[in-house]
Amino acid sequence: MATKKTILDFVSMKKNGTPLTWITAYDLPFAQVTEEAGVDMILVGDSGGMVQLGYDTTNPVTMDEMMFMASSARRGAPNTFIVGDMPQGSYEVCNEEAVRNALRFVKECASDAIKLEGGVRVAGRVRAIVDAGIPVVGHLGLTPQSTTSFGGYRVQGKTVKSFESTLQDALALQEAGAFAILLEAMPAEPAAQIAAQLEIPIYGIGAGGGVDGQLVIMHDLMGFYQSFRPWFAKCYVPEVVGKFTDYLTAAGDLRQLGRKERGDGLLVLAKMAIEQYVVDVHTGAFPGDAYSYSIKDEQLVELKKSTKWIE
Ligand code: KIV
Repeated sequence: MATKKTILDFVSMKKNGTPLTWITAYDLPFAQVTEEAGVDMILVGDSGGMVQLGYDTTNPVTMDEMMFMASSARRGAPNTFIVGDMPQGSYEVCNEEAVRNALRFVKECASDAIKLEGGVRVAGRVRAIVDAGIPVVGHLGLTPQSTTSFGGYRVQGKTVKSFESTLQDALALQEAGAFAILLEAMPAEPAAQIAAQLEIPIYGIGAGGGVDGQLVIMHDLMGFYQSFRPWFAKCYVPEVVGKFTDYLTAAGDLRQLGRKERGDGLLVLAKMAIEQYVVDVHTGAFPGDAYSYSIKDEQLVELKKSTKWIE
């Protein structure tokens, strides 16, 4: 049986250079198979509003919908550290509302922590939620709830201005008590620079291999979402489908395999895909250059001129 990791484990992993594995899950079967595959952390993201519920963006997602997804994920993964994502509108108005909604994740879904988007502007909210005893993960870089303010889905951290403001936001979140930060859509070099300057773990989704751990969206990893797949997301099914076929061939009596162990279907394939992701994060094969955003040499030279860049 898996042992649930704690915030202290995440800090030790950063210190000893063990990359953390993190996947989204929004329901019982995928949470279950994620736990079985030995993933360190689950995010019940508001991305579930798009990949599960069919909204065009994450903005319409409600707290009640998040409760539905986060509680079923918990039933599937009783021994995995679960982070619940605060949907748009659940934390912007005031500290009291933010704390009340964060508490819903803990009380109604047995989530271990919450995540919210933003840096300096939400530092007060982070402090209030942490003071209520709830661990918080920050989310910086490309923050989907505010894509309209960014002018669309854009890679962050390529200019001195964008790098410095992300670093300033990260330091503000650390100061406010966040135990980790997720960086989304940033080239590897500025993301690694931020990870090196922060004491708390910095995880990435589309932020290269120099951060302290990786997040992927389950539906990208499985090839389940047809509308869109970001550049940095890897579908693992083609890589493990041969192994899955070999396993079924070796099993012999598939009827018995199905009846006795339900070991003949998509969840076995999903587990193989997730296990390969875990191996690849640990060996550094994922994300690699193929699943990371690049930065032009001249842009990197400019970034390194920033007084905030430490060699
Ligand atoms: O909701 C989610 O899954 C997220 C990721 C896009 C980072 O916040």
